[in-house]
Amino acid sequence: MKKVHIKSYGCQMNVYDGQRMADVLGAEGFEETATPDDADLILLNTCHIRERAAHKVYTELGKLRELKQARKADGRETTLVVAGCVAQAEGAEIQRRQPAVDLVVGPQAYHRLPALLAEARASRVVDTDLPPDDKFGHLPAPKPAAILARGISAFVTVQEGCDKFCAFCVVPYTRGAEFSRPVAQVVAEVERLAEAGVQDVTLLGQNVNAYHGEGQDGRIWGLARLMHRLAEVPGIARIRYTTSHPRDMDDDLIAAHRDLPQVMPFLHLPVQAGSDRILAAMNRKHTGDEYRRLIDKVRAARPDIALSSDFIVGFPGESDHDFEETLRLVEDVRFASAYTFKYSPRPGTPAAELETQVEPAVMDERLQRLQALVERHRQEFNHAMVGRTVEVLLERAGRHPGQLAGKTPYLQAVQIETATHRIGERVMVTIERAGSNSLFGRAVPRELAA
Ligand code: SAH
Ligand code: SF4
Ligand code: F3S
Repeated sequence: MKKVHIKSYGCQMNVYDGQRMADVLGAEGFEETATPDDADLILLNTCHIRERAAHKVYTELGKLRELKQARKADGRETTLVVAGCVAQAEGAEIQRRQPAVDLVVGPQAYHRLPALLAEARASRVVDTDLPPDDKFGHLPAPKPAAILARGISAFVTVQEGCDKFCAFCVVPYTRGAEFSRPVAQVVAEVERLAEAGVQDVTLLGQNVNAYHGEGQDGRIWGLARLMHRLAEVPGIARIRYTTSHPRDMDDDLIAAHRDLPQVMPFLHLPVQAGSDRILAAMNRKHTGDEYRRLIDKVRAARPDIALSSDFIVGFPGESDHDFEETLRLVEDVRFASAYTFKYSPRPGTPAAELETQVEPAVMDERLQRLQALVERHRQEFNHAMVGRTVEVLLERAGRHPGQLAGKTPYLQAVQIETATHRIGERVMVTIERAGSNSLFGRAVPRELAA
C-alpha cells in the first residue's frame, strides 16, 4: 500500500480538511502514516493567518526537499503537496520558492486531488480555483474504521468562507465567499459519525453562526435550527460550534443554549479588541458595549456558560488608551479561556497598508499584560469547578496507567483514576483539584450526582 503523511497547521477547519483529504486518498489506496520518512505522498495543509504561520511552511518544505532527495537516492519517489490557505494565497509562487513541490492545491479543490495527483506526475500543478463546485458533495464519506480511529469527538465543517472582511484578516481571500452545506448533507454525515460511535460533534465554519443552509423543507435554515435537527440524531450527546461572529449571534442561537441539552455551555465568540475606535478600524461592525450586551443575553439564557474569545493586540493605531479598553472589556466579561495574538500585517489586507503600525516592543508588552489577565481568569474559572459534580465524556487514556481523560461540558480537560469505566462513557465526576491545564476528579454514581 502507498503511504500518505498529512500535516495540518492552523485552525480546526484544516484538521477537518486533513481528514477529508485522507478519506479521498484512502479511496485511492493510500494508508496514513504518522511520519514523513516512509511516506510516498507528503501533504502540508497550511495556514496563512499570521506571518509566522506562513513562514513555517517554507522552513518545513526545505526539510522535506532533503527528505525527498534522500528517498530518491534510495530509488523511492516522493510527491510533495502544499494544500490549505498558503496554497490558496500564494499559488504558483510556492513552486518558484521551492521547486521540490509537485502540487499546490487550494481548499476548494480537495475533491479533485486524485486527478491533480495524476497530472502532477507529468508536470507541476497548481489548482486554486474557488467554488461554485460542490466540494463537499464530491468528497467520499469516511469509513467507520477511519472515524473510530479519530475518536469519539469529531469535527464537521458546515460552513466555509467569510464575507466579513475584517481589515486584518486573510480568510475571505483564502477561503472565499461564505457557503453553507445543505442540512441533509450535514445530517447524513453526522448520522454516519454517530453510527460509528461518535458522541460529540463540533460544527465548524470560519463564520459558523452565519450558517444559512438549504433545509430539509427547502427553506433556508440557520445554525440553531440545524442544531435542533442534529440533536435528534441517536447517539449524539454533545454539540458545539466554532467560530462565531458577534453580529451573527441571533436570538434563536442563544435560545438553543437554553433549550437543547446537547448544546454544550461553551461559546467561542471572538471580540478582538475593546476600543470602539479600533473595532471600527478593524471593520468588526460592533462596539465593545454591543458585545457586552450580547454576553449578558447569552448569560441570561445559560448562566453557567464558559466564554472564550480571540484578541489581537497592536492593531495599527492602537494607543495605550485603546489597549486599556481591551483590558477593561476582559475584566467585565471574564472569559474562561482566550487566544491572544500580536497583530501581524498580511499582504493584501487593508490594515497592512496603514502607516500607524505599532512598535514590536509595545506589542510585546501589551500581549504579556493581556495574557496575564486572561490566564488569571482562566485559572479562576477552573478553580471554581472544585467541589462541583459535572458530566465528563471519557475520550482517551489518561497520562498515567489507570487514568482516563475526558472533557467537561465547558471544554475543560479532566483526568480521573478509574478501573471500572471505559472510553466512550459519560460519567458524573466530582472535581477535586484544578491543575494548570487539567482538572482532576473522581467518578460518582449518577444517582448520587444530582
Ligand atoms: N473566523 C474566526 C477566526 C479567524 S482566524 C473569527 O472571525 O473569529 C482566528 C483568529 O486569528 C482571529 O480571531 C484573530 O484573532 C486572529 N487573527 C486573524 N488575522 C490576524 C492577523 N493579521 N494578525 C494577528 N492575528 C490575527
Ligand atoms: Fe477573518 Fe473577520 Fe472573517 Fe473572522 S470574521 S474569518 S476574523 S474576516
Ligand atoms: Fe489558517 Fe486558513 Fe484556518 S489561514 S486559521 S488555516 S482558515
